[in-house]
Amino acid sequence: MTAGINDIERAAGVLRGGGLVAFPTETVYGLGADAEDSAAVARVFQAKGRPPSHPLIVHLGGAEQLGDWAEDVPATARLLAERFWPGPLTLVLRRGRRVSPEATGGLETVAVRVPGHPVALALLSAFGGGIAAPSANRFGSVSPTTAGHVRAELGDAVDFVLDGGPCEVGVESTIVDATGAVPSVLRPGGVTREDLEAVLGHPLAVGSATRVRVPGQHPSHYAPRARVVLVEPEKIVAEAELAQELGHRVGVFLPASLAGVEVRAHAVVALPASAAAYARGLYGFLRELDQRGCDLIVASLPAEEGLGLAIANRLRRAAGPRPSD
Ligand code: TXA
Ligand code: MG
Repeated sequence: MTAGINDIERAAGVLRGGGLVAFPTETVYGLGADAEDSAAVARVFQAKGRPPSHPLIVHLGGAEQLGDWAEDVPATARLLAERFWPGPLTLVLRRGRRVSPEATGGLETVAVRVPGHPVALALLSAFGGGIAAPSANRFGSVSPTTAGHVRAELGDAVDFVLDGGPCEVGVESTIVDATGAVPSVLRPGGVTREDLEAVLGHPLAVGSATRVRVPGQHPSHYAPRARVVLVEPEKIVAEAELAQELGHRVGVFLPASLAGVEVRAHAVVALPASAAAYARGLYGFLRELDQRGCDLIVASLPAEEGLGLAIANRLRRAAGPRPSD
């Protein structure tokens, strides 16, 4: 059930009291706390099991609040904010005084965004301040795209869950280092590189040539319980069947180009043809294969253009070495 006005007011009250509220955004669900309240922000790290050095994104109700939370905002950053907010774009800027140092992990920069979900915007408007929120999952695991995912994963660690239905975009926001005159992409996400370049009028660096420190970029992240193995699309069926014969419970991400092909595996997810539908479903598919008891997921990378860039980034990291490896 989508949250109503009573739920929103109650959630704003929880935030004012220093509590934690999970809320929908267009990308994934966030686990929010008052961005000015150090103790509340500390509880977010605790609930997630996240190291305190990994900064959070501060969510704002509108671009006009930017000046309260960031300093020396370059013209390029203002242009991006104007064009993409509300929406799945996070800007890293020099931090303003208002944000609690816990939220920025002690960095001199702050990540800010105006989310494009009506329930998130209503919450921000009722609360009035900034909401510091990471994705509402345990550290390193798959991000939640429904209220049910949040409840299953965080349970009592969160004081209130606002339900806004399934997230429309399905992968996290694009994070852009906008501290200087030439921005660079720190994390691909819901706003595509092509969209950013069209507005900026020049090519963008992705994942390199950045001046800011980027904590929280562990090789393993967005990971389901099952091990994820990436292979070329033409090898997917053979690899999956081999692993199944070797005794694995194999889950397959079957590309749309192989639709209808029979695979002897434990579970098969038929991927949608459009990148937008794939992004929307991605985390749900990973959770589904976990739930069905798979211990190995065989997948391949989509074309790295448009939203495919963010999907490929998440799959690579889901397949990355685990802390226990
Ligand atoms: O779509 C999203 O961005 C979602 C929704 C809830 O807004 N949030 C999200 O937050 O993905 P989280 O905490 O899971 O990922 C935020 C990432 C961190 O991993 C960190 O690397 C980066 O943002 N970050 C935050 N502050 C930063 C800063 N000052 N400089 C560089 N990177 C920063
Ligand atoms: Mg996250």
